[in-house]
Amino acid sequence: MPPTADAPHAARLRLQRFDTEDARAAFARDVARGLGSSPKQLFPKYFYDELGSELFDAICLLPEYYLTRAENEILARHADEIVAAAASSRAPDGAPLSLLELGSGSATKTRRVIEAILKRQPDLLYRPVDISASALTASADALLQAYPALRIEAYASDYDGALGHLSRGRDARADERLLALFLGSNVGNFDRDGAQQFLRALRGVLREGDALLLGADLKKDRAALEAAYDDALGVTAAFNLNLLVRLNREFGADFDVRAFRHVAAYNEEAGRVEIYIKSRREQIVRLPGLDLEITFDAGERVHTENSYKYDRDGLDALAAETGFACTRRWTDEGGRFSSNLFVAR
Ligand code: AVJ
Repeated sequence: MPPTADAPHAARLRLQRFDTEDARAAFARDVARGLGSSPKQLFPKYFYDELGSELFDAICLLPEYYLTRAENEILARHADEIVAAAASSRAPDGAPLSLLELGSGSATKTRRVIEAILKRQPDLLYRPVDISASALTASADALLQAYPALRIEAYASDYDGALGHLSRGRDARADERLLALFLGSNVGNFDRDGAQQFLRALRGVLREGDALLLGADLKKDRAALEAAYDDALGVTAAFNLNLLVRLNREFGADFDVRAFRHVAAYNEEAGRVEIYIKSRREQIVRLPGLDLEITFDAGERVHTENSYKYDRDGLDALAAETGFACTRRWTDEGGRFSSNLFVAR
C-alpha cells in the first residue's frame, strides 16, 4: 500500500482520549439534570461539537470579538520574552521546555509560542488538550505540517480527564520542564471557586518553577462586552443556539430553534457576561433519547455560559490562592486583554 500523504506526520502524533467517564453518558446526564432543574442550565463545554468548534473559530474573526485579536497582538509582540521568562523560572536555566495547552482549539495563537520556543531549542513536545477530537486532529495536522521539529501528544478530553492523567504520569516525566498555556480567556468559563479548583489541579501537574501563561479578559465598559457576545452578524447567536441543534441530532429532540433566541448580558456586580438561550413562547420540547419532555414558559431562559472578566488585583490573588505567583503581565495596546505569567511556587 502506498504511504498516505500524512504518513511522515503520523509518526510524530499520538492522540489519546481521557474522559473521566463515557462522554456521551455524561452529556446525557448533564442535559437531563440541566433542563430538569430550575433555572434551566447547560454547560458551555457542550458547545464544541464539530460545528460549534468551527463557529467559535468564526467568532474569533468578528469585529466585535476583540479578545482573540488582543491576545494575538500580545503573543506576536512578546512571545520571545514570555518564553524566556518561562525558561528561566526553573533551574537549570536553558533546559528544554515542553508545552501543555488546555483547550487548544485551532491552536492558531499557539504558533507564536511554538515559534519562540523553537528559536531556543531544536525540537519540542506539545501536549494539547481539547474536548473536540475534530479540532484536535485538524490542528495537530496543520502544526506538524508547519513545524518538522514538533512532536504532539494530544488528549481528546475534558480538563478533568486530561489533568488526572497528566498528574498520574508526572513522576515519569521527572525532568520535563513545562510551560502550560490556558489562553483565550478560557478561564472565564469558571466561577471564582471553579477557577481556583482548576488552577490547583493544573498546579498539581507542574513542578516548582514551571510556568503557566494565563490569558484573561479584563473588565471594561458594558457596551464593548455585550457587543463582543452579541455580534451584529449573529455568529455568537448561532454558536449558542447550536446547542439545541446538537440536542436534536444526538438525542432526537424536537427543538424548534427559531422559537428560541440568544441573550448576552453583562452582570457588572458579578463581573461576568451571562449567556442564555431564551424561549420566545410557551412550548413543550421532547427529547426521546433521554426519555424526557421539557416545558418552557414564554421568556424562560436556559443559562449556557458565564464569561468572567478580571482585574489585575483579581489575577494576582488568583495566582496566590492556587500555588502560583503572577510574576509578569502583558496587555495589548488597548488594555483590553491580559497575558499573565503564573510561576509555580
Ligand atoms: C472560549 C470561553 C473564551 O467566553 O469569550 C465566545 C466563549 N462564548 N463567545 C468566551 C464564547 C461566546 C469564549 N471562551
